[in-house]
Amino acid sequence: MIKYTNYLTTTYGQPEGWKLPAYEKLCHGYDTARKVLTTMTREAVVDEAKKANLRGRGGAGFPMGVKWSFMRPHPTKPAYLVVNADEGEPGTHKDRTIMEKNPHSVVEGCLIACYGIGAHVAYIYVRDELHLAKRRLEEAIAEARARGFVGKTPFGSSYPVEVYVHTGAGAYICGEETSMLNSLEGKRGEPRLKPPFPAQAGSFGCPTTVNNLETIAAVPTMFNLGCDAFSKMSALHDMKDGGVRLFGVNGHVKKPQIIELAVGVTIREMIYDIGGGVLGDKDVLAVIPGGSSTPILRPQETVHAPDEKNPMHPWHGKSVFDVPLGVDTMRGVGTMLGTCCVTVMAEGTDPVLAFQNLMQFYKHESCGQCTPCREGSGWLDRTLKKILAGKASMKELDDLSDIASNIMGNTICAFGEGTAMPAMGFLQKFRPELEAYVRGEKKGKDARLTVSFEASEQAAE
Ligand SMILES: Cc1cc2nc3c(=O)[nH]c(=O)nc-3n(C[C@H](O)[C@H](O)[C@H](O)COP(=O)(O)O)c2cc1C
Repeated sequence: MIKYTNYLTTTYGQPEGWKLPAYEKLCHGYDTARKVLTTMTREAVVDEAKKANLRGRGGAGFPMGVKWSFMRPHPTKPAYLVVNADEGEPGTHKDRTIMEKNPHSVVEGCLIACYGIGAHVAYIYVRDELHLAKRRLEEAIAEARARGFVGKTPFGSSYPVEVYVHTGAGAYICGEETSMLNSLEGKRGEPRLKPPFPAQAGSFGCPTTVNNLETIAAVPTMFNLGCDAFSKMSALHDMKDGGVRLFGVNGHVKKPQIIELAVGVTIREMIYDIGGGVLGDKDVLAVIPGGSSTPILRPQETVHAPDEKNPMHPWHGKSVFDVPLGVDTMRGVGTMLGTCCVTVMAEGTDPVLAFQNLMQFYKHESCGQCTPCREGSGWLDRTLKKILAGKASMKELDDLSDIASNIMGNTICAFGEGTAMPAMGFLQKFRPELEAYVRGEKKGKDARLTVSFEASEQAAE
């Protein structure tokens, strides 16, 4: 069931909604941070945050409060908060809307999060191309500093907090948290081996929490409503997937957009109620549920969970399109929630072209550090181009699964899985279409529709 909410997006579309007066008027601006910093202990902040059951909005879905609890005071080193606003995932542009339309929620979220994890400095790492987003964030920080909310004594407390915007250079891999830390330090944006995890040795070798920008922007709402109440707004509260979040729908729908809803909406609702239905009133060929790294789903797929103890049992026998979009529910149907921005492909889309389009992206963005990823992503792309040109053999088509499975689990970071998992999804679900190219029954130039992963102007609004 769709539950429309308006917490993260209160200032969207309001006159100068990104400025401090609007934030103060419409969102109780900074009242929550004031209360937290002046009345709560650090431990109480983390305990409260855990109750929100907020699963990180950056893609992996790790519980935010638990991540905060990993931060232990270090005898000599400072701690840092790093906010991930790299947002390079194809099909995803939710964080950009927050930075442009509600930047003060991020600054207020930084104040509360820094206090909770014991940091005095927050870096917001923003993708370079997002010029308006950067400007709005900088302006918001300046406004908050001028009022004494950010700086040496926020709200008269003795807990200094500084917030800085740091610009990336437009590399998808720099969204991966450890590459981002390297990039922040002025090094090449290549992932680090874990352990040590960022909470032990993150930015500049110091304890660091990395959170997605939407995760941090939700913090004032969480603490304003009470974290338990925030969690209970979700239909998946019992699965510890709480709260409200930004959902996106893009691709072949009539109304691509970013919208705030309580967790619990289904893919079908995203396509028809939020997205206004498929362009040309066509049927759906498939959807990518949460950014290009999440394996594709087809409407014919059903949930198989006859055992009552299986958490997916409530949806046994139903179409995967009727399962609520949640971190564990999407895992339960063999994919991932990712960034929660659904890309819709209409019937008539050529899945082989879409597959090659994605693999070209991963080949281009692989940082090249790990051989299975560097070579594997290039090999996948080359073979798919050969298939599209009608020059590949069945053996080469079969090789694609081997190449993908040789990437899985053999790389330093999850970019490898982000390439291999969608590849396996396409291979499993569109084998006849791939074979048709190999047999010469179809040629690349015959394909009429390709999928655009670009944000449309309407979606950007
Ligand atoms: C290749 C790759 C790209 C990523 N890109 C982003 C990104 O653009 N934004 C983001 O928040 N997380 C991204 N992540 C996930 C981050 O590594 C990290 O899990 C996240 O920022 C943690 O924040 P959260 O717990 O609040 O979700 C990416 C991960 C990988 C492997």
